[in-house]
Amino acid sequence: MQTRQRQGRLGAATAAMATLAAAVAALLTAPGAGRAEVAVPAEFRGADLALGEQLLREHRCAECHTRLVGGDGSGIYRPKGRIGRPAALLSMVEVCSVELKLQLFPEDIQAIAAVLQRDHYRFPASP
Ligand code: HEC
Repeated sequence: MQTRQRQGRLGAATAAMATLAAAVAALLTAPGAGRAEVAVPAEFRGADLALGEQLLREHRCAECHTRLVGGDGSGIYRPKGRIGRPAALLSMVEVCSVELKLQLFPEDIQAIAAVLQRDHYRFPASP
């Protein structure tokens, strides 16, 4: 009885390992395998990260957020809160920039969101 139970658990672990191995294999055979972009959701691919960093600095996004949540302001970025997927992050950046009357281009919004994705949200790429 005890032996069979242990075997069952071992079986489950082996199955989990197989799933993991399959996922890794899929990743490795995907185009661009081995590069960091593989894990980036489609919404953020090709974004100009340097531009995003510059815009975040220029528009003092962190200053206002720091006033709200303290620290370096990054505490406002809550991946497990309202912003639960890439599209929500993009619209939130848009909302904040419209509110600030920044008149950013869609590429700018994408660039900013991509930096927040890289540094804070880290949404997995959808299959
Ligand atoms: C004048 C103040 C202010 C400035 C400046 C500001 N924000 Fe915000 N931001 C807020 C407030 C307030 C919230 C929280 C809104 C809420 O929780 O309802 C917020 C929330 C956010 C969120 C969502 C966080 C989450 O995970 O729920 C993002 C993303 C964001 N801001 C991006 C930006 C970006 C990018 C900039 C600069 C272009 C910026 N904000 C500038 C006030 C500001």
